[in-house]
Amino acid sequence: MLAAREHWGSRFGFIMATAGSAIGLGNIWRFPYMAGENGGSAFILIYLAVVVTFGISLVMAEMVLGRVTQRNPVGAFRALGGRGWALAGGLGVLTGFVILSFYVVVAGWTLAYMVFMAGNQLPTADPAVLGGHFSGFVGRTFSPLFAATIFMGLTAWIVAGGVGKGIERASKVLMPLLFVLLLVLVARSVTLPGADPGLAFLLTPDFSRVTIDTIISATAQAFFSLSIGMGVMITYGSYLPRNVNIPRSTLIIVLLDVGVAVLAALMVLPAVFAVGLDPSAGPGLTFITLPAVFASMPFGNLFGTLFFALLAIAALTSAVSILEPMIAWAVDEHGIGRGAATLAASLVCLLLAIPASLSFGPLSDATLAGKTFFDWMDFLANNVMLPLGGLLVASFVGWRWAKPACTHLTNDGTLRLPWLTAWIWLLRVGAPVAIVALVWQAVSTS
Ligand code: TRP
Repeated sequence: MLAAREHWGSRFGFIMATAGSAIGLGNIWRFPYMAGENGGSAFILIYLAVVVTFGISLVMAEMVLGRVTQRNPVGAFRALGGRGWALAGGLGVLTGFVILSFYVVVAGWTLAYMVFMAGNQLPTADPAVLGGHFSGFVGRTFSPLFAATIFMGLTAWIVAGGVGKGIERASKVLMPLLFVLLLVLVARSVTLPGADPGLAFLLTPDFSRVTIDTIISATAQAFFSLSIGMGVMITYGSYLPRNVNIPRSTLIIVLLDVGVAVLAALMVLPAVFAVGLDPSAGPGLTFITLPAVFASMPFGNLFGTLFFALLAIAALTSAVSILEPMIAWAVDEHGIGRGAATLAASLVCLLLAIPASLSFGPLSDATLAGKTFFDWMDFLANNVMLPLGGLLVASFVGWRWAKPACTHLTNDGTLRLPWLTAWIWLLRVGAPVAIVALVWQAVSTS
């Protein structure tokens, strides 16, 4: 006996949950430093171009697969494409474990830094000291794992609550809070004395720093940020009632995602310039450069605490969405209870998080082809599994299921969508070409 599938309680709830999936560490931690390393607004413009073409197309393709089948990624592909295609969904479920193994580690750092900021434990503006603090902390054996465990526990608690009472309810509170925090911090950052060079850096595109690599990293970043390629959008789409306007909801979600990424860059980079630090500091930008910025501004501890709270909230609603497809799969396909499935999946993720976290300390020398366990998980997820998942969705919908996809996307012809043909051809040719280039580049340069 199948229990009736739970659905989102409102369109607002659905949009907050899905935007919550998209908006995560990718927007606030990764996007600003990638923009900083890749010529500021030139990178942002290329990123926008990728998002409005391939990004939107793939989000809609996944969502329509989910809404039609009312199933998890494995069930959705099996229902429409048979057993062979079910493997594409299986790849998605597997990818979730790989992503969570390193995502909870970085998310744990944000929780720890929130505590450090609130407790005034980083009272220096010297990046060298802060760099030492960062590598010292992440290199420890137990404390970062403890933080990751707390984060995983929060994630599991929300997911175990169910679609409406867990995911939707948490997103409806956390996402508006995130928007408010972000606006406060952007206002603080752009009004710092000396913020102008940072603004100029963001507003005047430097195309001389754009290479093929820039375009490829912008593409990879767009996929990760929009949560494409592992069936999150299939799963969240499967909780949609039939009559929702998918293109319009997608547009809102994508605009929120892009908006937050750009605002995050606007929050981080002017502040970094204002205190004369380097915008191309890479992954350490958030954990090393920003605490230096906070230490040199009035009420820096307060703003610092709010910043890391913002980051933790963004990470939490994303982690929830990475966990949910596995749970939906266990519940739909194997009749396992939600609570038991959540507990089991979370424990597996935590086990995988152990070597990921230790990659910065005791296991930092345990490398394979120069990459630690953390690096491998990150590399496999971002450069192999997610692109492959995206490729499978694009090919399936574009080549095997184009007609029904168009019928369903238009709600049986009630929506007029003049760009349908362009959508199908982007899925058939555009997205696959971009994805193959991405994987090729990543594998050959690594
Ligand atoms: N989009 C999130 C971020 O920007 C991460 C994320 C959530 C994700 N769900 C995903 C990435 C599914 C890939 C696939 O941080």
